[in-house]
Amino acid sequence: MKEIILNHPMIEHKIAILRSELTSTKEFRELVSEIATILCFEALKDAPLKEINIKTPICETIGKIIDENNYAFVPILRAGLGMVDGVLTLMPNAKIGHIGLYRNEETLEPVEYYCKLPSNIENKTVIILDPMLATGGSGSAAITMLKKRGVKKIKFLSIIAAPVGIEKIKKEHDDVEIYVAKLDEKLNDVGYIVPGLGDAGDRIFGTK
Ligand code: PRP
Ligand code: URA
Repeated sequence: MKEIILNHPMIEHKIAILRSELTSTKEFRELVSEIATILCFEALKDAPLKEINIKTPICETIGKIIDENNYAFVPILRAGLGMVDGVLTLMPNAKIGHIGLYRNEETLEPVEYYCKLPSNIENKTVIILDPMLATGGSGSAAITMLKKRGVKKIKFLSIIAAPVGIEKIKKEHDDVEIYVAKLDEKLNDVGYIVPGLGDAGDRIFGTK
């Protein structure tokens, strides 16, 4: 199981602005998208390349390209939607599935309400998008839903994670690679990440 925590001054800078309650909806969305691009860049480090013949203005040569058909992005609704534009800047032709999950506010257990995936999903590397990995309940449930549909290779991108969330995914799905921009300290007694950024979905969509 691979777990990558980005460690970079630029990420610290963007996360600091993202966390602030003074940050506007517009800037919040832009930052979520930018950090998603950086996470995806990191997650594609092992992408297989295929050779193609190309002709530069100078000569013929061999170029190496990624086959975007081998990938699908799957945002967890709602907040994962905020990461889609950012990852598409790297792979504009990748297919996109959607998984609908919300946390029951009392039990913190994930409730499934939607699942629509691209055809041939079982042969693609699926990159799950969700800015928050708190208890890990939603992330783990999304991975289970994908595995039930035959997906074998899964990567999980998250902007802020709590240690307990990472541990849950590791325990239940040790074959999944996790990429996190910032590892936070803990959860509070109502399941929010501390210091966190509050409710990611509400901040992206301006619903509170
Ligand atoms: C948030 C977040 C994750 C989940 C993380 O979604 O986007 O999906 O909580 O918490 P967990 O790790 O404890 O499961 P939420 O349930 O608030 O739904 P929303 O995206 O529709 O706002
Ligand atoms: N979901 C969020 O949006 N924020 C948290 O801190 C935890 C779960």
